[in-house]
Amino acid sequence: MTREAIKGIIDEGTEIMEDFADSPALDAGILSAAQAVEHYEITRYDTLKTWAEELGLPDAVTLLDQNLQEEKETDELLTRLAKARVNRQAA
Ligand SMILES: [Fe+2]
Repeated sequence: MTREAIKGIIDEGTEIMEDFADSPALDAGILSAAQAVEHYEITRYDTLKTWAEELGLPDAVTLLDQNLQEEKETDELLTRLAKARVNRQAA
């Protein structure tokens, strides 16, 4: 089953790469697309973790929380990279 939301996010990233191929804003655009993926993953893992809590599945809660924390860390790293360098290059 195709997930339309993530397909849209990936399509948007592809469009950004095409539209900004020769622009100094390319890296900023790619970073924004990568963060959209991370945010999508965060919403999904957060929901699944909540469901696992409600269903009384502590092992699943632990694993889903690990994934959730990894996604949040990646998002934070991308934000730091954007603020430190990429957005300034684009401007
Ligand atoms: Fe991720």
